[in-house]
Amino acid sequence: MFIKRIVTLSVVASLALFASTHETKGESCSKKSELSKVVKKGKEASKLLLKTLGGNMKKHMKAGGPADALSFCATNAAGLTAEVDEKLGKDVSVKRITLKPRNPANMAEGDEKVILKSLQSLKDSGVKLPKYLIQKKSNEYRFYKPLLINKKVCLKCHGTDISPKLKAEIDKIYPTDRATGYKMGDLRGAVVVTIKR
Ligand code: HEC
Repeated sequence: MFIKRIVTLSVVASLALFASTHETKGESCSKKSELSKVVKKGKEASKLLLKTLGGNMKKHMKAGGPADALSFCATNAAGLTAEVDEKLGKDVSVKRITLKPRNPANMAEGDEKVILKSLQSLKDSGVKLPKYLIQKKSNEYRFYKPLLINKKVCLKCHGTDISPKLKAEIDKIYPTDRATGYKMGDLRGAVVVTIKR
C-alpha cells in the first residue's frame, strides 16, 4: 500500500515535470495545460510565501540576531501566512506543513502526512527529491514543495546545537516544540498550495 502510494506520487511528479517542460499536442492537451496551470500557480504561491517569511526573517536576523528573529516569527509567521493566503484569492490557498511542528497548527494532516512520510523515505533511500509534487483530488489539486534545511541559518533555531538562551525562549513560546535536531539537508516539511479545480 505504502510502496504503491510512493510510486503513484512519483509518476504524478514526473508527469507534472513533463507538462511544464514540453509542448503539448493531441487529445491530452487540455489535461496537460490544466496541469501546467497548477504548476504555475503552485510555484507562484509557494515562492510568495517563502519570500515573505524569509525576507522578514532575514531583516530581523540582521537587526537583532536570532532572538529578535524568533520573537518576530513567533508573533507574525501565522499572520503573514494568512495574509499571503488571502492575497491569492479564494481558489488558491497556501500553508506550511511538517511532521515535527514547532507551531502545532503546522502539523501535517491526512494525505499530507502520507506525502511527507513518502518524501522522507525516498530521501532516506538516497533519492534526490523533486522540486514539487502534484496531487490530484476530486475537487482540487495540491502542489507540494519539499522544504529542506538548506541554509546554515536554519540551524540556529532548528539545529542540534541551539544556544541555551534561545532554546529557553523557544520552549517558553512553544512548550510542545518538536522542530529541533535537524542537520543541513534534512527534510523539514513542505509548502502546500491547494488549487480548486
Ligand atoms: C530565528 C529562528 C528561526 C530560524 C532562523 C528559522 N526558523 Fe523555522 N521556525 C521558527 C519559528 C518560531 C517557527 C514557528 C512559526 C509559527 O508560529 O508559525 C518556525 C516554523 C518553521 C516551519 C513551519 C513548521 C513548524 O514547525 O511550525 C518550517 C517549515 C520552518 N520553520 C523551516 C525553516 C527553515 C527551512 C529555515 C531556514 C531557511 C528556518 N525555518 C529558519 C524559527 C526559526
